[in-house]
Amino acid sequence: MADPFGEKALDKKITLDGVPVLNGAGVVDSAVFETTQQIQRDDEKVALNRTRINRTLNVVVIGTGYVGLVTGAILADQGSNVTCVDRDPAKLEVINRGESPIYEPGLEEVIQSGLKTGHLKTSTSIPESVATADIVFIAVGTPPSADGTPDLTAVMQVVQEVGRSIKQHITLVTKSTVPVGTGNLIEETLVRMGVDPNLYDVVSCPEFLREGCAVADTKNPDRIIIGVNDPGAETKLLSLFSRNRCPILVINRTSAELVKYASNAFLAVKISFINGISRICEQSGANVDDIAAGMGLDHRISPKFLQAGLGWGGSCFPKDVQGLSKVGETMGFDFEMLKAAEKINTDQVLHFVGRIRAELGSFSGTRVAILGLAFKPNTDDIRDAKSLEIIKILKAEGAEIIVHDPVAMDNVKAIHPDLTYTKTGEETVHDADVTILVTEWAEYGRLNMDRVAQLMRGNLIFDGRRFFRPEEVKSAGLKYFTIGS
Ligand SMILES: NC(=O)c1ccc[n+]([C@@H]2O[C@H](COP(=O)([O-])OP(=O)(O)OC[C@H]3O[C@@H](n4cnc5c(N)ncnc54)[C@H](O)[C@@H]3O)[C@@H](O)[C@H]2O)c1
Repeated sequence: MADPFGEKALDKKITLDGVPVLNGAGVVDSAVFETTQQIQRDDEKVALNRTRINRTLNVVVIGTGYVGLVTGAILADQGSNVTCVDRDPAKLEVINRGESPIYEPGLEEVIQSGLKTGHLKTSTSIPESVATADIVFIAVGTPPSADGTPDLTAVMQVVQEVGRSIKQHITLVTKSTVPVGTGNLIEETLVRMGVDPNLYDVVSCPEFLREGCAVADTKNPDRIIIGVNDPGAETKLLSLFSRNRCPILVINRTSAELVKYASNAFLAVKISFINGISRICEQSGANVDDIAAGMGLDHRISPKFLQAGLGWGGSCFPKDVQGLSKVGETMGFDFEMLKAAEKINTDQVLHFVGRIRAELGSFSGTRVAILGLAFKPNTDDIRDAKSLEIIKILKAEGAEIIVHDPVAMDNVKAIHPDLTYTKTGEETVHDADVTILVTEWAEYGRLNMDRVAQLMRGNLIFDGRRFFRPEEVKSAGLKYFTIGS
């Protein structure tokens, strides 16, 4: 019989004493994972002995950005000896003071505790750090190159330097999001460099944390994916993650590399889908939140990632959707669905700004207040943020732009020093013709709309995230516009 939910494929991978640990909906029952597990891989049972390596593992994490620093700090918190390596000594100085170079709730406390116990150290030297390492994570950036292909320059630089430093056996793990086949490329590079193949194995362990709740996500991930072609490496990684009480899926390395792209692209497509529905709602009078609620009650769909808005941005979705498209191309497959999702995403901002322009007549000489600059709340990350797309258009069309964000203003200032930066949401809307909500920070939800109406010289509120309560805005005498209505 056909297996429409793919349960057979999954229960072949994850079992407990040979019994599938799937609940009725085909979802892995994490309660069962509270106990020692077994993972069945390729018909060969591999016992998940969570204490197999009875000594503290020495872990090196290269790249102390959103992924590397959080991963390193949490692994140190869980008892490993961790050295976080970065080429930027200024970042490491901040970390050594017990501070975080990025805004990530809860991260400073974990850093401070790691420094105090001595489990967390920093270094600018790959050779010195690798000299005593059991496991080396690569967590440097993989930004898109001009044609959308992930740029592996930083990853391969690190591989070369690690390769030159290997003296004892290490497990080299890509945590950076890398295209299918990168593990093979790394192995080929190490072979070309003449490194003894008995001294390393190459593993993929993609990262799924969300910025803004990265600490909680790393402490309690939904799942850990280990992509190995070698059982020895598998044991080390399973030992390292033995404190985690989540499903651990051990698959081959290429599959692990692809899981990451597939997951991000799927979520991006889901958001674009509801944003497509929002456009139909605008014309038909249907309510997109009600549609999302109605869809989300279907367990196969779920309400997550069905919030209509200005679309997806950030450091991952745009580049990973493009990256997967490119992977498809190189394999002779045109993944048109991804291109359609990208188009909806690009159009969403243009359409929204078009509606604002239509209300104002023209942006020229208008005073526009922008609330929120980060690509989403609870982060200072502005990579591919919708605010930047909107600011670019407004600037080109002659608007005066007043902006606010609780934590991301310094990052935007570095690109647009000529905007007016304010200290509060209220200050931002002062004398504005139109107020645009771009990032749904909780503090904007506490704005008093009567006060906003008094402060603004115009009366237009454009809500890019369906965040404000329409009745509150309207009863203050303001005109309310949002995505999908
Ligand atoms: N940010 C996320 O939410 C997220 C989530 C999952 C996966 N990822 C993936 O993880 C990877 C890292 O992302 P990020 O957001 O943490 O990047 P980031 O830009 O915040 O951090 C990268 C760090 O690597 C350092 N670095 C670069 N080259 C180096 C080198 N040769 N030696 C030492 N350090 C070097 C940089 O100085 C920087 O501190 C990317 O592949 C990304 O796609 C990111």
